[in-house]
Amino acid sequence: MRLASASAPGKVILFGEHAVVYGQPAIAVPLSSVQAEVIAEQGAPGTGLVVDAPQVDVTVCVTNGRVGGSYYNALVYPAQITLEALRQPIPDMRMTLTSTIPIASGLGSGAAIATAIIRGLSQALGTSLDLEELNGLVYNVEMRHHGTPSGIDNTVIVYEQPVYFVRGEPIETFQIAEPLTLLVADSGQASPTRKAVEDVRALYDSAPDHYDAIFAEIGQIAQQARTAIESGALAELGELMTANHALLQALTVSSAGLDRLVTAAQLAGALGAKLSGGGRGGNMIALVTPDRAAAVSSALVANGAITVIETTVQPAG
Ligand code: PMV
Repeated sequence: MRLASASAPGKVILFGEHAVVYGQPAIAVPLSSVQAEVIAEQGAPGTGLVVDAPQVDVTVCVTNGRVGGSYYNALVYPAQITLEALRQPIPDMRMTLTSTIPIASGLGSGAAIATAIIRGLSQALGTSLDLEELNGLVYNVEMRHHGTPSGIDNTVIVYEQPVYFVRGEPIETFQIAEPLTLLVADSGQASPTRKAVEDVRALYDSAPDHYDAIFAEIGQIAQQARTAIESGALAELGELMTANHALLQALTVSSAGLDRLVTAAQLAGALGAKLSGGGRGGNMIALVTPDRAAAVSSALVANGAITVIETTVQPAG
């Protein structure tokens, strides 16, 4: 018997990755064309809680009492902290997870999987967590996974709205004046977010003033970008993206493949382009006018993109 089903979208960071870890603002939007989904069904008595991810051929059994230990599993841990938060024993339940969000590519796959599991499990147990509680639990998962996450991924995914995010501050959403047509291109290289964040930390420790200045410039770009999005100044928004990419190069988080895609997008007529997320691989994004979308998409594929997702971020309501 089906008890619940739940889903969560992917996300893209439009501006401010890495600098956001150091308190600068960042902008992210949900990517609803890709989703993680969980279906929770009643299990036979005595079978416990099983999480099944058939696409990657993984089945895990959730056990008690390991939450504080060194053991970490991306499917088990979200379920454990949910049971702990709800003060529930392990139920007899089978949760089946499927996802269309590419893994390890900066599209928020980890946070979306955790969100879908926590939502599905809490609903199946007859409780619905409010968004703030859910966000807190997913942030806890991100911390186990990432080290020092800013919290932007879980926030945009849990709230499923464009966010202007400053670490430690209340969530701010904002208005979008004109639809934003984005191409999200996968470089085909895995994105080691944790390593990239650690490397930026080492750079920062070696020359704090220098890197603080770069973070502040990125923060200013994010602020200007918010105004450009709110007023529909798309040409300016594109230029801000490209300027943000140059600063990410200065943080050493781009790669030859990402740079090539960014240049290809610009030459094919994109308004702007940059890497998105942790970098070193993963995805880049290009802002395009709808009439250039096909040409820019072909240029991205011709320059090494293994997939290109077109998505339009719409003004609310
Ligand atoms: O690679 P992603 O999509 O998980 O994004 C990481 C974003 C960073 O700013 C690099 C890290 C963070 O925690 O905000």
